[in-house]
Amino acid sequence: MADPVALHYEESGSGTAVVLLHGYPFDHTLWRAQIAALSDTYRVIAPDLRGHGASPAPAGDYSMDLLAADVAALLDRLGVERAVWAGHSMGGYVALAALRAMPERVAGLLLCASHPFADPPEKAASRRESAAQALREGTAPVVSGMLHLLFKPGTNLETISAYLIRSAMLKTPPQGVAGVLGGMAVRPDAVDVLRPLDPPKAILAGREDQIVKLADLQALVADLPHVALRVIDGAGHLPMIEQPEATTAALRAFLAAR
Ligand code: MLT
Repeated sequence: MADPVALHYEESGSGTAVVLLHGYPFDHTLWRAQIAALSDTYRVIAPDLRGHGASPAPAGDYSMDLLAADVAALLDRLGVERAVWAGHSMGGYVALAALRAMPERVAGLLLCASHPFADPPEKAASRRESAAQALREGTAPVVSGMLHLLFKPGTNLETISAYLIRSAMLKTPPQGVAGVLGGMAVRPDAVDVLRPLDPPKAILAGREDQIVKLADLQALVADLPHVALRVIDGAGHLPMIEQPEATTAALRAFLAAR
């Protein structure tokens, strides 16, 4: 595995460390409302993952293990041994990789609009094609078709939130897009990582998520009753933006109950 890179991050508050990991292809500002709210009680650490935001974007594919190792190196720099890892979508894949590789560093795991399943072969193949396209043609042709899938159906995309989300996506460098697409394509199934009772685990789902389907998560937790599933009404794939108060409340409830 490549060496960790020094991640750009935002930190605020004190207390139990909570790491908020963004999804693809965004940056830590996705969690702005939750960083502001939760830092009254917790030490909130929100990095830009490798290839995103202001963090370095070296050449190559970025496995979820590599992204998790970058975050662990950041926690080392900050003197944090254990943290609650909360990840949005791809950030959830990174949190699962951390729990598999270094369980001693994970005091709790929360997936937000995320899931533990590997890509089906056709999805992995299309990610590889999109990775090659990003390197050839840039970020815009790969990410611009995603916007309408991120918000719940029927959302007016001519709004400031949609504009900011689109801008964050377009700022992601082609190498960042290609690196994580290559890494997501080969990530293993992680359902087994959710099976142990410890540490506490929960999933937050947008009821109208068009990317991570609520029915799939309901079927998953039917087999894993210790994993709490909380559904955020009025949200699609971006609960932290579409329903910030409800998302913060669900995060608080999980953190308080641990
Ligand atoms: C994300 O929001 O991080 C992506 O939808 C994850 C994925 O493409 O699987």
